[in-house]
Amino acid sequence: MNVLGVVGAGTMGAGIAQLGCVAGYRTLLHDPVPDALARGGDSVRSGLEKGLARGRYGAEEAAAAAGRLRECPALEDLAPCGLVIEAAPERAELKRELFARLSQVCGEDTILASNTSESRANSSSLSSMRSGAASITMSQGARSSSAGHSRNLPAAAVASSAP
Ligand SMILES: NC(=O)c1ccc[n+]([C@@H]2O[C@H](COP(=O)([O-])OP(=O)(O)OC[C@H]3O[C@@H](n4cnc5c(N)ncnc54)[C@H](O)[C@@H]3O)[C@@H](O)[C@H]2O)c1
Repeated sequence: MNVLGVVGAGTMGAGIAQLGCVAGYRTLLHDPVPDALARGGDSVRSGLEKGLARGRYGAEEAAAAAGRLRECPALEDLAPCGLVIEAAPERAELKRELFARLSQVCGEDTILASNTSESRANSSSLSSMRSGAASITMSQGARSSSAGHSRNLPAAAVASSAP
């Protein structure tokens, strides 16, 4: 897995995207709302600058991390991702629709994950995934695999479940 997709560029999505960039993944951040996408991208870049100011990494590493981010206005842009983490608003129907579309857009081996805080997402929001797809739901303090095969998330994604 070397390309991470993040769906939703709000508080959680931008944070997850930042972690992905720092962890060395080419990170494709999608939001259908242009202003939200721009804000999310800015948030990733300012978060990276803060990390640099705090001495978490050097200037070269921060620049490399920023260079790994791509802002994507279309969900279809996420086709090359090995892992997609959904961080869209907490509306079951919206998440269902997103996973149905992601199942079409992404390859058979792509791991589709949700950052939902809804504990019953396994049986509702994610039910539209294609048969056999791997899904991992991440919520505050808990991670669990749902349908299909569970797989280990890279450190960047696992860390994203922290509040
Ligand atoms: N904020 C938290 O502390 C927190 C903690 C754990 C889990 N969560 C969960 O993470 C998810 C995202 O939460 P958040 O706080 O980042 O929300 P947010 O409102 O900050 O961001 C949501 C983003 O999704 C975008 N969006 C709207 N429609 C979309 C669509 N069709 N496709 C893709 N993106 C769309 C919005 O434009 C917005 O930028 C929710 O499921 C929430 O329950 C949030």
